[in-house]
Amino acid sequence: MSKNKTVDEFFRSFSVVIISGASSGIGRAILSRISNSETKAAVFNLSRTIPEGVSNSLNFTHLTCDLSQPADIAAVVCELQKLMPREGRMLLINNSGFGAYGEFPAPGVDHTLKMIDVNVRAPVELTGRLWEELKARGGMVATVASLAGFQPTPLMTTYAATKSFMLDWSVALDAEAKCHGIRCVAICPGPVSTNFSKAAGFASSTGLGGQTSEECADEAVRGMAAQRPVVVTGWKHKILAVFSARLPKPWAAAIGLRMIQRLRLDRFVKKA
Ligand SMILES: NC(=O)c1ccc[n+]([C@@H]2O[C@H](COP(=O)([O-])OP(=O)(O)OC[C@H]3O[C@@H](n4cnc5c(N)ncnc54)[C@H](OP(=O)(O)O)[C@@H]3O)[C@@H](O)[C@H]2O)c1
Repeated sequence: MSKNKTVDEFFRSFSVVIISGASSGIGRAILSRISNSETKAAVFNLSRTIPEGVSNSLNFTHLTCDLSQPADIAAVVCELQKLMPREGRMLLINNSGFGAYGEFPAPGVDHTLKMIDVNVRAPVELTGRLWEELKARGGMVATVASLAGFQPTPLMTTYAATKSFMLDWSVALDAEAKCHGIRCVAICPGPVSTNFSKAAGFASSTGLGGQTSEECADEAVRGMAAQRPVVVTGWKHKILAVFSARLPKPWAAAIGLRMIQRLRLDRFVKKA
């Protein structure tokens, strides 16, 4: 069986797919991959802006939602309950998120708290509010964490900690929920060329290179189809993840600080 066929069949095995943050970057590339599978599932996107260029052949609905706002999440869950097909397996992809660079609490305490809301509170709340439905129908919760979740990361302290939370949460939930027919997959990309650096406060690309959204999404969906609890995308990132997870945390933080300082990312930060 070809790799694409496996992924196509995987997407066709769901009657409902809910993804957050498919308006841009990795989420948009995953949405294209879902569309290419010719799934008949009802596909819902949750983000503040509408994804562009979605194929007419996809049974697609965009639900405008600011995931930093608990009221928006409650409202969107009600809307989903009304709109989604009543039977069949469910796939929830928690992808929305953003980062920030600089000495804590840069760029500000409010921004930092909003990042915790979008990166942690929202996926936990969405999953929690859909949990009974997931248990009744069976399915998968895929969560986009990060390579940054494998070690404490100075100068991106809160962002890395949100991703560390999501990585551990997803892996633990997978062990707990298997018996209910729910699998959980934590996707951990390294640097990917998206709007992420702009949202993290950089004026231009940081030149860290890495993967394209399509390369990252392709590995992510193959990992989801294979039901791997942790999917690190990119072979260099896989090696880095193995090393950083084995280092004592204070060493990893000290080495991380030196490495980030050597990259001189300050050069790319947007001036106020
Ligand atoms: N790019 C990287 O290097 C990298 C590496 C590791 C992990 N990741 C993770 O990958 C995920 C996707 O990021 P990306 O790289 O694709 O960045 P991106 O191009 O900036 O996309 C981020 C997505 O998140 C959504 N989002 C942000 N704030 C939101 C809010 N308040 N409410 C609802 N949706 C919101 C955005 O939608 P709207 O703006 O339309 O709301 C957008 O669709 C994130 O969780 C990120 O942490 C990225």
